Amino acid sequence: MGRLFGLTPTEPEKCRILELGCADGANLIPFAQNYPGSTFVGIDLSAKQVERGQKAIAGAGLTNITLTHQDIRNFDSQGQKFDYIIVHGIFSWVPEDVRERILNICDTLLTDNGVAYISYNALPGWHMRGMIRDMMLFHTAQFPDIQQRIGQSRALVKFLVDSVPTENNPYGQFLKNELTAMQGWQDGYLRHDFLEEENKAFYFYEFATAAARHNLQYLGEPELSAMLAGNFPPQVQETLAKVGNNIVQMEQYMDFLRNRMFRMTLLVKKDAKIKRNIDAALMRDFYFGAVASAVKPEPSLAPGEKEEFRMANGVTFSSDSALVKVMLVSLQKSMPNHISFGKLMSEVRAKLSGGASAIREAIIDQREEAIVSQQLLLLYSKGLIDVLAVPHPTLAVGNEPLLKAPAYMRYQALNDGRHVTNLRHVSVKVDSFSRHVLSLLDGTRDPAKIIEGMAEKVRAGLFSVQENGQPIADDNRLKAVLAPRIGGVVEQLIRLSFLQPA
Ligand SMILES: C[S@@+](CC[C@H](N)C(=O)[O-])C[C@H]1O[C@@H](n2cnc3c(N)ncnc32)[C@H](O)[C@@H]1O
Repeated sequence: MGRLFGLTPTEPEKCRILELGCADGANLIPFAQNYPGSTFVGIDLSAKQVERGQKAIAGAGLTNITLTHQDIRNFDSQGQKFDYIIVHGIFSWVPEDVRERILNICDTLLTDNGVAYISYNALPGWHMRGMIRDMMLFHTAQFPDIQQRIGQSRALVKFLVDSVPTENNPYGQFLKNELTAMQGWQDGYLRHDFLEEENKAFYFYEFATAAARHNLQYLGEPELSAMLAGNFPPQVQETLAKVGNNIVQMEQYMDFLRNRMFRMTLLVKKDAKIKRNIDAALMRDFYFGAVASAVKPEPSLAPGEKEEFRMANGVTFSSDSALVKVMLVSLQKSMPNHISFGKLMSEVRAKLSGGASAIREAIIDQREEAIVSQQLLLLYSKGLIDVLAVPHPTLAVGNEPLLKAPAYMRYQALNDGRHVTNLRHVSVKVDSFSRHVLSLLDGTRDPAKIIEGMAEKVRAGLFSVQENGQPIADDNRLKAVLAPRIGGVVEQLIRLSFLQPA
């Protein structure tokens, strides 16, 4: 986002990152794994969480990251500054003096071109969630045990949904939506956002004012599409243009329109020269990935023929532009990897010089790279493609002789419960069998060795493989049964972005 708005933040491959309230390092450690040339510092008040993280760091053999048990209030960086500061899931949930200290740390410890990320509950949206929180706090006050309080909170919302009519009743509809959302919340989130003592939500303008007191200014949110008034219908845009004459005001009105309840705000130093008119030429330095797939297996790329594309959330959009279709199909074919502007440009040139030479010539006439850059910016601003300043590590596509999962991932697979962080930095729930396969994928084992490794795990009693309800005693039979299952798991691990070519 910094680069998009004309700033020059430090390259992630060679930077210093601080995370305040890093818990067990689940966010920071995968970054440290992927960026060996950068330095990572995390602090947290929970000794237990920090110890857990330190064990993982040692287990993965990482030397570019330290986690320290420390209060944000007393943090002393010993003169070190940071290119990025991350504060996620903390700001709304700590007392006022800690909030002030967080902003003070961002003010005093960010480098001049640094970027801070702070997430918090936002108003007006949080008023609605806050109402449910108040009811949960009232109901669960009588239960001393936290697990019981979590269970009772879920039961309370269910009772309300079952008892309040939904038809022609916005309140009933709201509760029903909350119950649906709640089914996807993990206990930790419910506890954190609903049952903890401190939870203060802010209007965006209040947050921006507090940041300004600490010599910090608003850069943006991590998704550009959430920031642009251009994504509202024309009459809303017109009104916004009249009422919002600066970025903070504009964002505040957009929160009113969207009933926003959570923000992930990026801040930079007050003197940073932010350019709000994004230059499409910047796209040439970025990497692009698909967020939508063509609905038809072989969409027509001819101009004027409408084709539909569907995103993971089911939302579809269509285009009859040959250029847009070629770009989207090329990005889809490159998945799971993002591709550079140069690579995308050569795909566009190759495809459009085939059946659609008239367009190709038109594009050349109008300076094709500029057009492609503008289209990319437009697609990105609407959330229809993914844009990265630095690509994820190269992901395996399935034709590699040897595959590798990074050491921290293999550590997590065996030690950290059911979730493992993939190479796109997403925490994914993985079943036990697959986690054992993942733990063996260190880049040295071919498929036969992985089968052997899994058979050894069975022999060691780590898990059992049965046939007709009986454990398999014969070694050859065991391997024959394991082989296709392991093959399927490896394919799935590739699809889930866990593996790299060795
Ligand atoms: C909800 S967790 C968020 C953890 C992590 N950032 C994440 O997003 O998963 C809040 C964390 O803030 C830590 N914390 C709260 N107050 C703190 C303080 N004064 N100093 C350091 N850490 C604090 C807690 O120990 C806890 O690990």
